[in-house]
Amino acid sequence: MGKNRARVMLLPGDGVGPEVTAEVEAVLRQIADRGHWELSVVEGLIGGASIDRYGLPVTDATLASCRTADAVFKGPVGGPKWDHLRGEQRCEAGLLRLRKELDAFANLRPTAVRPSLASVSPLRPERLAEGVDLLIVRELTGCAYFGQPKGRFGDRAVDTMAYTVDEVRRLARVGFELARSRKRRVTSVDKANVLESSRLWRDVVTEVAAEYPDVQLEHQLVDSCAMLLISRPSLFDVIITGNLFGDILSDEAGVLVGSLGMLPSASLGSPGTPGLYEPVHGAAPDIAGQGKANPVGSLLSLALLLRYSLDHPDEAARLEAAIGSVLDDGIRTMDVAGSGDHVVSTAAFGQEVRRRLA
Ligand SMILES: NC(=O)c1ccc[n+]([C@@H]2O[C@H](COP(=O)([O-])OP(=O)(O)OC[C@H]3O[C@@H](n4cnc5c(N)ncnc54)[C@H](O)[C@@H]3O)[C@@H](O)[C@H]2O)c1
Repeated sequence: MGKNRARVMLLPGDGVGPEVTAEVEAVLRQIADRGHWELSVVEGLIGGASIDRYGLPVTDATLASCRTADAVFKGPVGGPKWDHLRGEQRCEAGLLRLRKELDAFANLRPTAVRPSLASVSPLRPERLAEGVDLLIVRELTGCAYFGQPKGRFGDRAVDTMAYTVDEVRRLARVGFELARSRKRRVTSVDKANVLESSRLWRDVVTEVAAEYPDVQLEHQLVDSCAMLLISRPSLFDVIITGNLFGDILSDEAGVLVGSLGMLPSASLGSPGTPGLYEPVHGAAPDIAGQGKANPVGSLLSLALLLRYSLDHPDEAARLEAAIGSVLDDGIRTMDVAGSGDHVVSTAAFGQEVRRRLA
């Protein structure tokens, strides 16, 4: 039984962020109204919008409000206006602080190619014929991005690739749990032929796999995984991997769907902490304010929010089906429109999704 009382924090961000967040809010309110939930939506600033108002990419008050929410939805941040800023003043610093504050250690990036959208993918149709529906679970708080020592030492620069048993174990459990609601296949990706941290990763994942005898585990080296993601993407169900490899592989997988605007993400921490949900795309300053942004990545992120933070898997599935049916009927934003499709604005796409949900 899902939550029927929820507090959701919305951080629209910059560029196309407010446009896509408006659609997320409208759909969320519609679902809450229909289910008679007590929904409280709180809006906050992040990125350039927060810099303009407070001189900081995120304030302590906003972070505190996020910590006490059930879930946080965030639009993209950044843009040319703030590009000259450095260090802690940069828009990205606000995003990193937010992720750290929520201790969001598992980043989920689902990638599915709908048959009706296969022509938008850069891959040849025969490579997509077997269907692509994969989920990358990337560790988000460790690896070379955070390991110590780190820095410039004379004429050397050092990044330390480090993992602890606990860090790998908690990430692996998230992957195996998620695999149980999918095709029950986990591919663990590492570079165990050369890296000690990868050998530890492989040992711990193998140990965790014993807790999930119903899930099939395969280990794969990151270089071969990078090739297979493009040549045989249908082989994959759940991929679990470290921060650096996951960063690269998830962008590679994202290319399969044909537009950045289509991709959702969730960043989850320990049970009881609010999840952070955001589209994968950036602030897209080139199309901001023109009603051209594809809201699908944001709306699919809302579906993840409903599933993982508000415990409403049925509503999540209904929303995913509604988005899918709009796309299948050829009602699309410009970035994914083919010949014969009906090109609509961000708001019109959102409205069509709500019409079908009603
Ligand atoms: N998570 C984030 O907040 C995040 C992620 C990436 C980039 N950024 C920031 O966004 C700004 C622009 O970055 P960029 O241009 O490298 O990447 P971008 O994702 O903003 O844009 C890349 C291209 O994809 C298009 N695009 C992006 N989202 C789209 C959507 N929803 N619908 C249709 N088309 C879409 C854009 O028009 C552009 O042509 C920079 O300041 C960057 O730092 C933020």
